[in-house]
Amino acid sequence: MNADSFVLIATLVKSRAGIVLTPDKDYMLETRLAPILRSEGLPSLDALALKLRDTRSEILARAVTEALTVNESSFFRDGKPFDHLKRLMPKLQAARPAGQKLRIWSAACSTGQEAYSCAMVLRELGIRDAEIYGTDLSREVVERAREGLFTQFEVQRGLPVQMLVKYFKQEGGKWRASPELRAMTRFEERNLLADHRVLGRFDVIFCRNVLIYFDPPTKERVLNALAGLLAPDGALYLGGAETVLGLTSRLAPIPGERSAYGLASSLAMAG
Ligand SMILES: C[S@@+](CC[C@H](N)C(=O)[O-])C[C@H]1O[C@@H](n2cnc3c(N)ncnc32)[C@H](O)[C@@H]1O
Repeated sequence: MNADSFVLIATLVKSRAGIVLTPDKDYMLETRLAPILRSEGLPSLDALALKLRDTRSEILARAVTEALTVNESSFFRDGKPFDHLKRLMPKLQAARPAGQKLRIWSAACSTGQEAYSCAMVLRELGIRDAEIYGTDLSREVVERAREGLFTQFEVQRGLPVQMLVKYFKQEGGKWRASPELRAMTRFEERNLLADHRVLGRFDVIFCRNVLIYFDPPTKERVLNALAGLLAPDGALYLGGAETVLGLTSRLAPIPGERSAYGLASSLAMAG
């Protein structure tokens, strides 16, 4: 691929998804975009770049962007945020008026393991007045999350066997999330770069393992937007390699908790 083609594809993906592709990622472009070259009958990435430039096809631009997202996820990934969630949710429930639903947002939810893990935590706590909203840029993963159907390999990653038998049913060699879990969850396409104010306030936001793909100004913009939606006593969970430090002063680490952040103003008042 020539340098101009790389710049064209990298600029497209950065503007559509915030994802930064560095030139050392050209091997990744070749493997990830190979299926698109085949389906479009194109001989090379240079030809794909030309087509993107000349046709400005929304469908093709979307397919290229989605192909370059990393959709890796697993149940109860990294453990700690879910341990914190278990302790936090009863406190939040006690602090809310009776009947008010607790709201969790799994932003960049990929195939839904994070959202379903939250649903299991809530079920185990006996909390039913809750809704879990899972969103992702990629249409394909959102559809998979909605189906709630996981392979044997996927359920073996992080899902304790007692939770598997309690909350999933075998279906044609795969495992389907139970109707109770699915009733608590809702999945939609949503770009993290969009204006999220229409979504209202969330008690808990998971935004994990996606900011690592963004540059600092984009991380800052997304974190400030999430801070604007977080309840004063709520929590934002980031991935293990992500932080708010040096990016926004609106959020601060929750003392003693790994990967958990709260509104800096509330944490300062709590002392
Ligand atoms: C590595 S997965 C993380 C999944 C889950 N949060 C976890 O930690 O297991 C990253 C996800 O971010 C999504 N993503 C990338 N850029 C995005 C954007 N601008 N808006 C929304 N989702 C995005 C990708 O489609 C992908 O599914």
